[in-house]
Amino acid sequence: MDSHAFFTVWILTAIGSCLCQDRAVGEDVEFRLINPPPAPPFIINWYFEGSLICSASAGSVIGVNPSYEGRASLDPNTTTLELRSLALNDTGEYTLRVTMIVGDAEKEWKTTLRVFERISSVTLEANQTELVEFNSSVTLTCSASGSSPSFQWFNNSAEVTGSDRVLLDNRTLTVLNVTRYDNGPYRCNASNIVSFEMSSDVTLTIAYGPDSAIVTVKSEYYSSGDNVTLNCSSESSPAAQLQWALNGTLLDEKGPELRLDPALTSKSGGYSCWAYNSKTQRYKLSSPASITVLERVSDPAITIAGSPDPLIAGKSSVSLTCEAKGSNITRKWMKNGETLSPESGRITFSDDNRTVSISSVQKEDRGEYKCQVSNPISIAEGSGTLIVNYGPEKVKIKGQEAVEFGQQIHLSCSAESVPDCTYTWTLNGTYKIGTGASFFKENSTYEDSGIYTCTAWNSITKETNKTDLELSVKGNACSYNRYLSSVTHYDSNFQFLDRAVLA
Ligand SMILES: *[C@@H]1O[C@H](CO)[C@@H](O)[C@H](O)[C@H]1NC(C)=O
Ligand SMILES: *[C@@H]1O[C@H](CO)[C@@H](O)[C@H](O)[C@H]1NC(C)=O
Ligand SMILES: *[C@@H]1O[C@H](CO)[C@@H](O)[C@H](O)[C@H]1NC(C)=O
Ligand SMILES: *[C@@H]1O[C@H](CO)[C@@H](O)[C@H](O)[C@H]1NC(C)=O
Ligand SMILES: *[C@@H]1O[C@H](CO)[C@@H](O)[C@H](O)[C@H]1NC(C)=O
Ligand SMILES: *[C@@H]1O[C@H](CO)[C@@H](O)[C@H](O)[C@H]1NC(C)=O
Ligand SMILES: *[C@@H]1O[C@H](CO)[C@@H](O)[C@H](O)[C@H]1NC(C)=O
Ligand SMILES: *[C@@H]1O[C@H](CO)[C@@H](O)[C@H](O)[C@H]1NC(C)=O
Ligand SMILES: *[C@@H]1O[C@H](CO)[C@@H](O)[C@H](O)[C@H]1NC(C)=O
Ligand SMILES: *[C@@H]1O[C@H](CO)[C@@H](O)[C@H](O)[C@H]1NC(C)=O
Ligand SMILES: *[C@@H]1O[C@H](CO)[C@@H](O)[C@H](O)[C@H]1NC(C)=O
Ligand SMILES: *[C@@H]1O[C@H](CO)[C@@H](O)[C@H](O)[C@H]1NC(C)=O
Repeated sequence: MDSHAFFTVWILTAIGSCLCQDRAVGEDVEFRLINPPPAPPFIINWYFEGSLICSASAGSVIGVNPSYEGRASLDPNTTTLELRSLALNDTGEYTLRVTMIVGDAEKEWKTTLRVFERISSVTLEANQTELVEFNSSVTLTCSASGSSPSFQWFNNSAEVTGSDRVLLDNRTLTVLNVTRYDNGPYRCNASNIVSFEMSSDVTLTIAYGPDSAIVTVKSEYYSSGDNVTLNCSSESSPAAQLQWALNGTLLDEKGPELRLDPALTSKSGGYSCWAYNSKTQRYKLSSPASITVLERVSDPAITIAGSPDPLIAGKSSVSLTCEAKGSNITRKWMKNGETLSPESGRITFSDDNRTVSISSVQKEDRGEYKCQVSNPISIAEGSGTLIVNYGPEKVKIKGQEAVEFGQQIHLSCSAESVPDCTYTWTLNGTYKIGTGASFFKENSTYEDSGIYTCTAWNSITKETNKTDLELSVKGNACSYNRYLSSVTHYDSNFQFLDRAVLA
């Protein structure tokens, strides 16, 4: 059996650690055959880059190069070499040559060790930290001590990857044309095969804005004397300087709040706000917020002017005028609780609704008129009554058409009229027999038969209107005789009736 079969694998391993061939400065390394020889070899020689480190023969170390004195140990039984306190210049090729038994051919194995300096003193620096959005570029440089560091970049814990704006070049990170979101914090991780170290954070200050300026106010309309507060906001870093303007003219007032204490009508107008960022040297002007300060409406009153006066249906015209105090008043008319609208030809409104003119007044126009005055902050109502004189019309007599001889006659007359009319009664078109709304006669006679006319008269319109009722007195001789003996004449107030008339 070939004794060399034991030396199938040749590797390096550190004591109690991994099977890797990379070490940090100061560490130890052990070169060991996976399958140690069954007996101490006859000759063992260890070389580094061609120069001898140490030798052993038949179970005894026979020599160590003085430059390895104290930090190299060779096990003559197993061929294992231990090197301690490695330095950078220990990097290189190691060769083991072994002659197992006298007369055997020499056998050789090689491996490579790399010794690295640990990463330390990792620092991150930006060439500038005060930046202006869309204007600045920044270069971050990561420095580290140690062998062959490679660099990894993080922005707020997320690894940075390159783009057309973000350039990565090992130890530098360049962000072109920064935006407000590029502020970091940035850190870099420097590493080599044996160690790594993270830098401390670098945060960039990126001035931006103002994006816009916005004026906010609770309402557009205010009552004179109210306290009005306007607010201006602007997205900006650092905070923008704010200044107010009225109708485009700069005011002295600065800051996010403008108070009008108290609001006066003269302070009405369009309020806007300028926002200026001294770092970016950019500004924005808000769109104006309109503020209208009004006097409350008060003392609404309707005046009525008619011609001829008093008003007579069909003859008079009238105008109703609504006056009130306050600013920017709008008016609305109502009649008997309903909105009044112009009526072609007859009822017209002035442009501002101040005056309602009625050209030919009708009785339907009478009633309660209201004028609602308002502005955006207040409302009030004035009222007036329009009296339209008319009539009399629809004259009616209520009463009997036939009565028994001697029975009472009771008639009453009514008419529609404003003002109330007066009534006159006549019989057979000739005889005035009474006044007042009712006619009464205690004991009827045959002469009381006939046509009763009620004439109604309106003292304002000077109009009359009348209606008739035909009434007949019926009866027998008995009652007639009694009548003859009793009747002399009609009520003394009335016109005397000669008995001959009855004959
Ligand atoms: C080598 O082996 C011999 C016997 O097998 C033993 O006595 C000796 O101590 C060993 N040497 C070392 C350095 O282990
Ligand atoms: C290797 O480096 C160590 C310390 O860094 C030094 O003392 C030693 O002389 C160097 N050896 C050689 C061969 O240059
Ligand atoms: C910077 O970025 C802004 C917005 O992305 C763009 O409008 C502007 O043109 C860019 N400026 C330069 C110099 O690239
Ligand atoms: C920092 O680096 C950026 C990008 O290279 C460059 O544009 C900028 O001028 C540099 N700033 C300073 C202060 O050197
Ligand atoms: C950066 O690293 C890459 C490989 O990762 C290398 O090709 C390049 O030369 C390095 N550049 C610098 C400036 O070190
Ligand atoms: C307006 O503000 C003043 C104090 O600034 C206060 O005394 C006054 O009562 C306020 N007026 C109204 C109407 O709120
Ligand atoms: C601002 O302009 C409005 C509309 O032109 C005007 O009514 C108002 O009086 C102006 N305000 C001032 C204070 O000039
Ligand atoms: C008056 O009020 C109306 C709305 O009610 C408004 O459209 C108009 O602009 C106001 N006029 C003034 C001078 O404020
Ligand atoms: C006039 O009154 C009508 C309703 O009768 C109303 O719709 C209109 O807005 C008013 N106009 C003015 C200027 O007040
Ligand atoms: C008289 O009465 C009739 C019927 O009721 C009416 O049509 C007419 O207009 C009235 N005359 C006057 C003057 O009112
Ligand atoms: C009506 O007749 C009665 C008796 O029939 C009589 O007592 C009365 O006085 C008469 N009245 C008048 C007003 O004539
Ligand atoms: C009225 O006329 C009727 C019928 O024509 C007659 O019977 C009556 O006597 C008359 N009355 C008077 C007071 O003339």
